[in-house]
Amino acid sequence: MTPEQKQIILATVPILKESGVALTTHFYKRMFEHNPELKNIFNMGNQKQGKQQNALAFAVLAYAENIADPTVLLPVVDRIGHKHTSLDIKPGQYQIVGEHLIASISELLGDKATPAIIDAWTAAYNQLAALMAGHEATIYQQQLNQANGWNGWRKFTIRKKVAESAEISSFYFYPSDNGKVSLHKPGQFISLKTFLPSLNLDQIRQYSISCAPNEEYYRISVKRETGAGIDTNGMISNRLHDHIEIGSEVELTAPAGNFVVPDEIDSPIMFISGGVGQTPFISMIQHVAKKQTGHPVTWLHGCRNRSVHAFKDSIDLLVNNHETIEQHIFYDHTTTEDANAGVRTGFLDIHSIANLEHTGNTLYYVCGPSPFIVKQVADLKQMGVDTKRILFEEFGPQTLQLN
Ligand SMILES: Cc1cc2nc3c(=O)[nH]c(=O)nc-3n(C[C@H](O)[C@H](O)[C@H](O)COP(=O)(O)OP(=O)(O)OC[C@H]3O[C@@H](n4cnc5c(N)ncnc54)[C@H](O)[C@@H]3O)c2cc1C
Ligand code: HEM
Repeated sequence: MTPEQKQIILATVPILKESGVALTTHFYKRMFEHNPELKNIFNMGNQKQGKQQNALAFAVLAYAENIADPTVLLPVVDRIGHKHTSLDIKPGQYQIVGEHLIASISELLGDKATPAIIDAWTAAYNQLAALMAGHEATIYQQQLNQANGWNGWRKFTIRKKVAESAEISSFYFYPSDNGKVSLHKPGQFISLKTFLPSLNLDQIRQYSISCAPNEEYYRISVKRETGAGIDTNGMISNRLHDHIEIGSEVELTAPAGNFVVPDEIDSPIMFISGGVGQTPFISMIQHVAKKQTGHPVTWLHGCRNRSVHAFKDSIDLLVNNHETIEQHIFYDHTTTEDANAGVRTGFLDIHSIANLEHTGNTLYYVCGPSPFIVKQVADLKQMGVDTKRILFEEFGPQTLQLN
């Protein structure tokens, strides 16, 4: 890009940001009209909620704002790259997105869209697309280089389905080709694709792998989503619960995601989960327990009540068998029996736990609903924890900017 083009980008960012939602809404509408096949790739639930509209084009604008030094965005490029590879996004698709994004900018700016502005934005988009597609090529290669690794969609068959609580069930997926699976990094997720008759579309959702790494199967644990205050229940989660049975086939991509424990663990770890946000930690804690690092591991978990507390017995057992692992449970509503077992009442509040050990190098992992993450990260920061040691994962397009 020329210095003049960079100047143009910086000058037009504020105008586009001002009309950010209009831009992104127009962009998606345009793209789905011209390329309806992409509705099979994008999460139509997120589109309804407007979540993805706030993610993709705003990432482009953030890039444009940092056009002088795009390297500051590398951690974001890595996170998006893991999500994109998990969706099997191909380099050629960047051209389609670029075409609709540039056309949307042009249509939105109207008379103000001079050829110089459109050229500058085209150059900026192409540079970002090349950066992202290049990084994604590296992740695809890493997935392929792993023992039993693969790229793209692979058929899996459900061999076991287990109710873990009143609303969470586990699904065990074995490769339909009878091959083995690659070892995931504890904390990683897979994408699951299945046909949704109600939309007449394929739909894709991400699910954290909820078992220790092994070469035979992946397990996911899915919460049945009911619309809060609306009559629309979660599309894929309810389909999995109600229609996907033993013997059913779905397609999965290889494990992806960078919300993981380090290969070599040399510090204490604290997991903080709300509700189904516990799933990545089930995998992580089994792995950490097996490694016997000698460092303390603490798990704080909050959920509504005992009936929705999944994996309680297996985690109790793990804690009882490992001196270095402890847990603290919070239920919104407790019974006398819960209270006698040490369960605290109310929303998970880290300040209310006396004698919780925090060292300067403890790693904090947070996962749960967005308001839960916001509160826990704010509490940790208030306690003086360095934001570099706080990692969090949202179960949807990442919209929180907390560190
Ligand atoms: C990295 C990652 C890991 C994840 N891991 C897990 C996991 O381990 N377990 C798990 O259960 N989930 C996990 N998720 C979430 C999962 O991917 C799905 O988002 C979840 O199952 C809901 O999908 P759905 O199709 O059932 O709901 P959707 O149909 O996509 O709907 C999502 C929510 O939006 C509401 N909604 C739908 N339509 C509207 C509307 N018109 N207006 C307002 N609200 C609406 C629904 O009621 C529902 O609550 C993870 C997500 C990510 C990104
Ligand atoms: C420079 C171009 C692009 C940028 C900046 C971008 C940015 C993003 C961001 C920020 C997210 C959310 C990531 C998260 O979960 O936190 C995302 C998700 C996604 N992207 Fe991209 N993206 C680009 C190109 C593409 C292309 C070419 C495709 C394929 C057509 C694509 C398809 C998707 C899909 C399907 C999702 C998940 C959507 C959802 O779950 O609703 N993106 N992208």
